[in-house]
Amino acid sequence: MTLTALLAATALTGLACNASAAQLTIGFSQIGSESGWRAAETSVSKSEAKKRNVNFKIADANQKQENQIKAIRSFIAQKVDAIFLAPVVATGWDAVLKEARDAKIPVVLLDRDIDPSGKDLYLTAVTSDSVHEGEVAGEWLAKAAGNKACNVVELQGTVGASVAANRKKGFDTAVAKHSNLKVVRSQTGDFTRAKGKEVMESFIKAEGGGKNICAVYAHNDDMMVGAIQAMKEAGLKPGKDILTVSIDAVPDIFKAIAAGEANATVELTPDMAGPAFDAIIAWKEKGTTPPKWIQTESKLYTAADNPQKIYDSKKGLGY
Ligand code: AHR
Repeated sequence: MTLTALLAATALTGLACNASAAQLTIGFSQIGSESGWRAAETSVSKSEAKKRNVNFKIADANQKQENQIKAIRSFIAQKVDAIFLAPVVATGWDAVLKEARDAKIPVVLLDRDIDPSGKDLYLTAVTSDSVHEGEVAGEWLAKAAGNKACNVVELQGTVGASVAANRKKGFDTAVAKHSNLKVVRSQTGDFTRAKGKEVMESFIKAEGGGKNICAVYAHNDDMMVGAIQAMKEAGLKPGKDILTVSIDAVPDIFKAIAAGEANATVELTPDMAGPAFDAIIAWKEKGTTPPKWIQTESKLYTAADNPQKIYDSKKGLGY
């Protein structure tokens, strides 16, 4: 049965509309805590649940898909009202999401997508347009580099994650329009500071101590913070000798931008859960089917945006 058919069937029997006054219990299979952004998403989702009086259960998967699958099965056994899933990788969800569908438990994807073949296995997805994020980063770099030949090194996110594939795709598309820009090295840094630093150290070694590198593009700010450290330890001046652009807009990147050690970031809101709670509540209480994709904004920030002020406003938000 497709989800559309399931929704039609449950709407007919009134199942989607009978939970109005009862407190909802929602389980969230969270990836882990690989980045400052992820920590903020966890803490923001807790406070958004509190605002709506949702009984919210978070299972931290420690970056492992098998743990996420176990958590989803446990939520199904507990007969939760809905399941939120931040999928660490894009594939391998069909069996467990079919189990959730058979148990008539709606699933909402948060911040990452699954393979398009699984589209009828979830109710809605709250994510940014991660291809667009890569394009925004690439277009910023094209402007900043001007006409000069510019060798770029890229720190990719977790292998197999939708956002890593999409951020690469968007950046490659933007860069392909400018013959002076060339991605000379690209490797995963797994979205962590430690790995970002380690991979950047190897890029610096391989590229003449960094003198052949004009810019770094990182799929998240945490890897960039690690890369900045690697550049400084190698005697380079990040933000000056080497341009930087990354994604997330965590407080530490604003600190680096304010210090002139980073140049640009594309914001990803950590509030994915708020819109997801609203979609589930409307679906349960009124039978309203949400759009398949609830898209969040992607805004570029640079030194022109008063980075110190943004740092001050964000630093207490759970990053
Ligand atoms: O899926 C969103 C990405 O996951 C964030 O950009 C990154 O920091 C996190 O690990």
